[in-house]
Amino acid sequence: MAKPSILVTRRLPEKVQARIARDYAAEFNDDDHIFTSDELLRRCAGKDAVLPCHSEHFTAEVIDQLPDSVKIIANFSVGVDHVDLEAATRRGIVVTNTPDVLSDATAEIALLLTLGAARRASEGERLVRSGGWKDWSPSFMVGTQVTGKTVGIVGMGRVGQVAAQRFRGFDMQVRYHNRSRLDPAKEQGAVYHPDLDDLLGHCDVVSLHCPATADSRGMVNADRLARMKDGAILVNTARGALIDDDALLEALTSGKFAAAGLDVFNGEPGGDPRYRELENVFLLPHIGSATVDTRNAMGDRALDNLDSFFGGREPGDRVA
Ligand code: DGY
Repeated sequence: MAKPSILVTRRLPEKVQARIARDYAAEFNDDDHIFTSDELLRRCAGKDAVLPCHSEHFTAEVIDQLPDSVKIIANFSVGVDHVDLEAATRRGIVVTNTPDVLSDATAEIALLLTLGAARRASEGERLVRSGGWKDWSPSFMVGTQVTGKTVGIVGMGRVGQVAAQRFRGFDMQVRYHNRSRLDPAKEQGAVYHPDLDDLLGHCDVVSLHCPATADSRGMVNADRLARMKDGAILVNTARGALIDDDALLEALTSGKFAAAGLDVFNGEPGGDPRYRELENVFLLPHIGSATVDTRNAMGDRALDNLDSFFGGREPGDRVA
């Protein structure tokens, strides 16, 4: 039987590409450029499947123009906000993601951002590198201690739960907001707040771990930021779309907030250039899942979903 044909939109880890080449008739993107929608559609011609990353935008318009041959979009990502799931369902296209395997790596970055923002790590590093470090004094580079403080997890899914575990390693009290309360056995003492507004005022650090959906876009707005404690720290490893940038920039420049740690942005790559002007923001380029182990595992998970689909089984990580 002919191997299913598949478009792989970005260069994946070598081991993953080798597995794809063994099992599928694959078209790869050797120079790893980002496809425009036109190129994406052109390359999908005659393919049975697409294996994209969050860098390709499967809007309703794109999905409506996909050739009938495309039966599944098997994402190399846990987030699926780059795919219009309703449009895919309408066209009978299956969509899968890669949950679980990036929870540890992403939680590590949430902790890195928290500590980096709280302890002014990038500001200090820039000072040493530039040769501007002239002295030590009791008031030099004084930051915020997070040990023993309270962290609020917004979105207590897989990544949120691992992050909570890591924050506990700093003796932090964990509170959380989620659509529904966790099974108490999984809470490990974390305090549930059904109302997000109520959570915010209790927390020294707020860490975002929820997907970008129609409901959550812009949820960190001026009103919510005003509810947070003075001197609080906001950390985002989820999606930039959760944050109203104007409101966060105001909180960071007015002195309301101590700092923010951001790995994801509206308008990636790059994000809002105004963040780059501020010392009290710790910035990373969307590297939550960027470890060798995790990227290999994401590839395997995406391929397991494809293997199930083409083997006549229900893919384990079907989201539409
Ligand atoms: C994900 O998997 O959603 C990460 O943000 C990388 O795309």
